[in-house]
Amino acid sequence: MTIGGLGPQGGGAASSSAGSPQRHAIVVESDVVRVRQVVRSAAVAARLSLVDQTKMVTAASELARNTLVYGGGGAVTIDIVDNGRRRGVRAVFTDSGPGIADLDLALTDGWTSGSGLGLGLSGSRRLVDEFELESSPETGTTVRVVKWSR
Ligand SMILES: Nc1ncnc2c1ncn2[C@@H]1O[C@H](COP(=O)(O)OP(=O)(O)O)[C@@H](O)[C@H]1O
Ligand SMILES: [Mg+2]
Repeated sequence: MTIGGLGPQGGGAASSSAGSPQRHAIVVESDVVRVRQVVRSAAVAARLSLVDQTKMVTAASELARNTLVYGGGGAVTIDIVDNGRRRGVRAVFTDSGPGIADLDLALTDGWTSGSGLGLGLSGSRRLVDEFELESSPETGTTVRVVKWSR
């Protein structure tokens, strides 16, 4: 099941990579810290404002923690994208975990299957400009987010 997909073109079609994508494993807690640092650097390079840098870093931090805690570990690919008018930062989180049974429920403020605050997915969605969530028990979970400079 997918939420926020932009149709068959996948939304990514309009945004070409403007650098070399960086892939990072997310398997231990310190990887989450590393992801924050890499996303911050990419956001600076894409000329996001300080506020937008922080929004993107916060979203990436929540998604990385979900990859670790619920996905049983996974990876993220971070790159700078260009749609011809603006630059942005894209982060794609993937895991081969159990998947999310009910995406609408998982995206509800305050809903957690664990002991979290249940604001990671819903909060991240609000903090970024593009948000796509794809999940199934067979393929695990993929979350794609983009934050554009303005
Ligand atoms: N990568 C993932 N794999 C499986 N389930 C996930 C994943 N990410 C999120 N979830 C599910 O969505 C719920 C909501 O996530 P989130 O909003 O980040 O809240 P929290 O992390 O506080 O539980 C989680 O409790 C979990 O059940
Ligand atoms: Mg979370």
